[in-house]
Amino acid sequence: MIQKVNDLRRSFLEFFESKGHLALPSFPLVPQNDNSLLLINAGMAPLKPYFTGQEIPPRRRVCTCQKCIRTGDIDNVGKTARHLTFFEMLGNFSFGDYFKKEAIHWTWEYLTETLGLSPDRLYPSIYGEDEEAFAIWHDEIGIDADRITRFYRDPETGECDNFWEHGAGPCGPCSEVYYDRGEKYGCGKPTCGVGCDCDRYMEVWNDVFTQFDGDGKGNYTELEQKNIDTGMGLERLAVVMQEVDSVFDIDTMKAIRDAICRMANKTYEAGQN
Ligand code: SER
Repeated sequence: MIQKVNDLRRSFLEFFESKGHLALPSFPLVPQNDNSLLLINAGMAPLKPYFTGQEIPPRRRVCTCQKCIRTGDIDNVGKTARHLTFFEMLGNFSFGDYFKKEAIHWTWEYLTETLGLSPDRLYPSIYGEDEEAFAIWHDEIGIDADRITRFYRDPETGECDNFWEHGAGPCGPCSEVYYDRGEKYGCGKPTCGVGCDCDRYMEVWNDVFTQFDGDGKGNYTELEQKNIDTGMGLERLAVVMQEVDSVFDIDTMKAIRDAICRMANKTYEAGQN
């Protein structure tokens, strides 16, 4: 079983190389020619000109493991099992090449076949009324309808939710995959389920169907080409694969944490209350 962070990173890139992707090294954390972001916050951010067609990519299928800092997450660090200041994001990208069908099939193949995760613990979500994504998950992958969560901002008006955009640029509806870590990580609320803020159902993968260009002010234009932007937090995936409590317990982080504890002569978690 592939468990260690460095092995997971390699296995993801090799999997997508076997599907015709060009593996590129991580781009710098400081955006180049993008005034809408202070720091790179997702694998797609340095690739924006390829999604819009402004620049020609080295190949129409690319995969990366991108260094990221998501400033909006910082207040959650140390409070949840899954948020970090700095993290790495695995991603496969299509610039006007394959779209929803291949992206969803490869998501499932990688998680269940390459990594061997149990399909019974995986729950996809979709943008409220994305019937195309629903049909792929349901009819082609074979997931029961009641295990596919439709996200709505307002269920009464039917206003859909689950849309990726950060600053201006390419954006679109998402379909995620959540992993059920079990009741012991749950908040115990009767409403606890996919999309709950607690650490039971951990979002591991996000497929974004990048088909719009946003101006950052709520105006969208349809892109000429349809794209795929997927993202999977490497450290979150390691939490699932290593069956540990939090991102601070995975092999790479634990080594750093233990060294800091030795230097500071402290025991991790002792006296935390
Ligand atoms: N841009 C999406 C995210 O960061 C998918 O890569 O979640």
